[in-house]
Amino acid sequence: MREWTREERYQVLKTPGQISDLHERISRSVWRQTYHVQPVTGLSSDPNGFAYHKGVWHLFYQWCPWGAVHGLKYWYHVTSPDLVHWKNEGVGLAPDTYYDNRGTHSGSAISDGEDLFFFYTGNHRDDDWTRTPYTCAARLGADGKPVKREKPLFGPRDDYSEHQRDPKIVWNEEKKRYYIFIGAQTLDQKGSAQVYSSEQLFEGWKYEGRLHVVGYEDFGGMWECPYIVNISGKDLLIFSPQYTKLPGRAESTNHNVYFIGNMDYDTLTFTPDGKYRYLDYGFDFYAAQGAANVGDPDKGILISWIGLPDNHYASAEEDWEGSMTLARELRIRDGHLYQVPVSAVYDLREKEWKPEGKLPKAGEMQILSDGSDLKLRLFTRPDGSGGFSICYDKASQTMTVDKTGMKLRFNESVGERLDMPLETPLSRIGIFIDHSSVELFVNDGEETFTAHVYPTEQEDGYTLDGHADVRLWQYAPSVKDDFVV
Ligand code: FRU
Repeated sequence: MREWTREERYQVLKTPGQISDLHERISRSVWRQTYHVQPVTGLSSDPNGFAYHKGVWHLFYQWCPWGAVHGLKYWYHVTSPDLVHWKNEGVGLAPDTYYDNRGTHSGSAISDGEDLFFFYTGNHRDDDWTRTPYTCAARLGADGKPVKREKPLFGPRDDYSEHQRDPKIVWNEEKKRYYIFIGAQTLDQKGSAQVYSSEQLFEGWKYEGRLHVVGYEDFGGMWECPYIVNISGKDLLIFSPQYTKLPGRAESTNHNVYFIGNMDYDTLTFTPDGKYRYLDYGFDFYAAQGAANVGDPDKGILISWIGLPDNHYASAEEDWEGSMTLARELRIRDGHLYQVPVSAVYDLREKEWKPEGKLPKAGEMQILSDGSDLKLRLFTRPDGSGGFSICYDKASQTMTVDKTGMKLRFNESVGERLDMPLETPLSRIGIFIDHSSVELFVNDGEETFTAHVYPTEQEDGYTLDGHADVRLWQYAPSVKDDFVV
């Protein structure tokens, strides 16, 4: 894979012409997605600034224009009327001030009905590369582009390491205050989060203290991308702990977890009802962010990066990588989080897919199971061998996903086989295939599994052993790959 110098990775984008050829070239790739948001060029990672405002869903992604590399990060803007049909809007936030000179890093958004406000990390670095993270703000201007507040809201605290970033803004109705949660690392390198509050969005921010998650004062080395939302009277806390291995996650040191519990804003204590759980069991799922202003107290909307820090993907050879997941609807029932694709996704069903044993490049597979053992292999070769295998073992009530059968292997060292234990016997799997991703929703959203996959032209079959009914649909494209910068 290509080696990048710091100068190359941190190049400032001056004119769209610098990347128009790159867009032209990658748009011919067989792995470009057709109903998932993907980078216009280069690399996309975390979802940012996700909110509903004046009838439009706004979403941004961390974007490095130059190639499959983490370098100078922009916020790239996409919009949608329904969370399924997305349109490229161009650069949202660019690293063009002193405070964000080396990247407009992750953050969130909130609408007050009139205006849409953004909170993000300005990644400042001195010439000697010393980092100072600032919490910065912006507001959507009349021309649809965010306009930055001149000065940051606040700088970093010196009782934490340099890792303080990814502000999540929330309104607390009881306190009549806004809160910002910031992912952080303590001086002794433990994962943590800081809490700030203010009565106004652009002024008056004060540090409230460290977030205490009961039983988890010593969990991971850094909590990236915190997110908190109240659904049906319960608080859902999500973050991405890193620099640690966790059970059932093979060799990976990057994870995305959630807790259901209660958040006490007086004591800054989150008391979980139980242990942490994985937001998704897949190989490639990180930095998930829920939308603000969903407008339904019983529902959340979440989107995530299909990818992991420190990992690279087969499309890197073509100078691009990354994708967003489908937007998911979140509900909490009986203390469990359920995640299903937003219902508008099903409008993409173009026609029922008939070719026996073959897969569409973009489509949906629905499997109804009687709960007995099952062995499904997607993307098998013409002789029926290989593939991306999904096995259900009734005795242990566990699904196992193994991608070693694919021709193109990647990130082998973090693990290519993962288990997904189920709470109830297998009854249903919804599988969403786009040109370079697979998302599994098991038992109506009880658990999910997301992965990148790069099938070659020959890997277009599937096989199924076991008692199950299968239906397949081909999907219409819903995400425009227009070159807008
Ligand atoms: C997570 C992350 C964030 C940071 C951003 C930079 O993937 O490391 O913590 O703000 O990516 O792109």
